[in-house]
Amino acid sequence: MSDKVNLIVHPLIQHKLTLLRDKNTSSKDFRQLVSEVSMLMAYEVTRSLPLEDKLIETPICKTTGKTLSGLDVAIVPIMRAGMGMVEGMLNLMPTAKVGHIGIYRDEETIQPVEYYCKLPSDISERLVIVTDPMLATGGSLRDAITMLKKRGAVHIKAMVLVSTEEGINEVHKLHPELEIFTISIDEGLNENSYIVPGLGDAGDRLFGTK
Ligand code: PRP
Ligand code: URA
Repeated sequence: MSDKVNLIVHPLIQHKLTLLRDKNTSSKDFRQLVSEVSMLMAYEVTRSLPLEDKLIETPICKTTGKTLSGLDVAIVPIMRAGMGMVEGMLNLMPTAKVGHIGIYRDEETIQPVEYYCKLPSDISERLVIVTDPMLATGGSLRDAITMLKKRGAVHIKAMVLVSTEEGINEVHKLHPELEIFTISIDEGLNENSYIVPGLGDAGDRLFGTK
C-alpha cells in the first residue's frame, strides 16, 4: 500500500462501517453514522496541523501550552454525497470554511461531470480537506483535485469512507502527492462500477432519493 494512503482501522469506526454497509440501515441512521465516522476521521486527517507555543496562566501557575497556528482548514465536499461528511467535521473544527465542488458520475459512461465550484477566496492558504464517502473508479476525486489545484489550492488531503485500490491508483496517477484517508479498501468494482461489498449509492442513502 502506498505511503500516501492512510487506512484508519479504529474499532469504533469499523463497527459503524458495518452498520453503514447494512442495507437495512435507514437514511436517518445512515446520515448520523456518516457524520459520526467523519468526526472520528477528522481527528486523524488533522494530525499534521502545525502548533505553536502559547504562554498561559492556569489557576496554579504560569505554563506554556500548544495552540494551532497558521494553517486554517477548508472542508470541500464533492456534492452531493460528500456533504454528509461536513457536519461531523465542523463539530471538531467549527471555524473551518466550507467550499463546494459539484461532480456527478454519468450513469451510462461512468465518467465524472463537473457542474459547480465555489471555494473560499483564501483557498491557497488553507489545508483543504476534500470529502466524499465513495472512491470507486477514482474519476470524481481525480477531477475534484484538478479543479482545486487550478483554483490555487496547495495543501490538499482527501477523506473518503470506502475506496478501491484501482480508484486510489487512478487518483495517484495524476496527483501522486495526495494523502488519502479511508476506512476501508474494498474488494473492487462490479459491472456497474459500484464498490463491492461497498455500501450502495451513498448519495441516495444519505438523502433518501431511492
Ligand atoms: C458518487 C460518489 C463519488 C463518485 C465516486 O457520486 O459520491 O462522488 O460517485 O465514483 P467514482 O470514483 O467512480 O468517480 P455520484 O456520481 O453518485 O453523485 P451524487 O453524490 O450526486 O449522488
Ligand atoms: N458511487 C456510490 O455512491 N457508490 C459506489 O459504490 C460507487 C459510486
